[in-house]
Amino acid sequence: MIEKCLFPVAGYGTRFLPATKSMPKEMLPVVNKPLVQYGVEEAIQAGMNQMAFVTGRGKRAITDHFDISYELENQIAGTAKEEYLTSIREVLDKARFTMTRQREMKGLGHAILTGETLIGNEPFGVVLSDDLCINDTEGVMEQMVKLYKQFRCSIVAIQEVPADQTHKYGVIAGEALKEDLYRVDDMVEKPSPEDAPSNLAIIGRYILTPDIFDILRDTPAGKGGEIQLTDALLTQAKNGCVMAYKFKGKRFDCGSVDGFVEATNYVYENVYQHIN
Ligand code: UTP
Repeated sequence: MIEKCLFPVAGYGTRFLPATKSMPKEMLPVVNKPLVQYGVEEAIQAGMNQMAFVTGRGKRAITDHFDISYELENQIAGTAKEEYLTSIREVLDKARFTMTRQREMKGLGHAILTGETLIGNEPFGVVLSDDLCINDTEGVMEQMVKLYKQFRCSIVAIQEVPADQTHKYGVIAGEALKEDLYRVDDMVEKPSPEDAPSNLAIIGRYILTPDIFDILRDTPAGKGGEIQLTDALLTQAKNGCVMAYKFKGKRFDCGSVDGFVEATNYVYENVYQHIN
């Protein structure tokens, strides 16, 4: 029912310089797979088949990754090495890929608005692939699609964070409908601990209804001079309904060096070694 997933991948990835000087941070490998491929696989698992990328300058490697590499594939065709391409070939078989460019980095909200031409007038998933989410059974996006079917409104994935970490996230407040589900009535982007309405932080998984585009068009630049998705979501919450869902699974902040190293160790021990 939700076919499209948007990947805003235009950010500079400054926290990973110099590695990200000429390489997109979304191509950093966690063990043997680039971060962005984990995100695409999660979207495919959730039943989505159109992956829409909002890219920027210096991000060509992402586009190339989701295409055939004739020379390489020809070279290793028929050899034992071909099996290394299995996972990416599966991804290419199951999904279509579209791209547009965000010319100026005006924030996540602006990146999502830039993706409107690829999405159109339908609900869609959003994956920030620097958040790596792992769950053995149902992926986080799959869990969220199920909820969307029930509520038909925008959904944000949340996680409890320590008070001294709220300044890194959008933080929600709302009415608890269940232990893991809230109807959002307030949202603040990157609050200091004193200003945080709770310790429930939004992580990089969303399902958005398409009215978000009109709201984003009217959303002025907020914190950091950027157009903030959090501000647009708050408007949406006030006009209608936004749900916040405490997902099942692990999430690693691979946009930070510590989170990236943790993810690498976890995937190596718990995923990679089990399938190799
Ligand atoms: P981040 O806040 O992690 O920024 O963006 P960043 O530039 O990627 O990384 P640092 O902080 O410089 O190390 C959150 C997500 O929003 C995307 C990023 O690509 C990332 O997936 N984004 C952000 C855009 O696509 N465009 C923007 O203008 C801003």
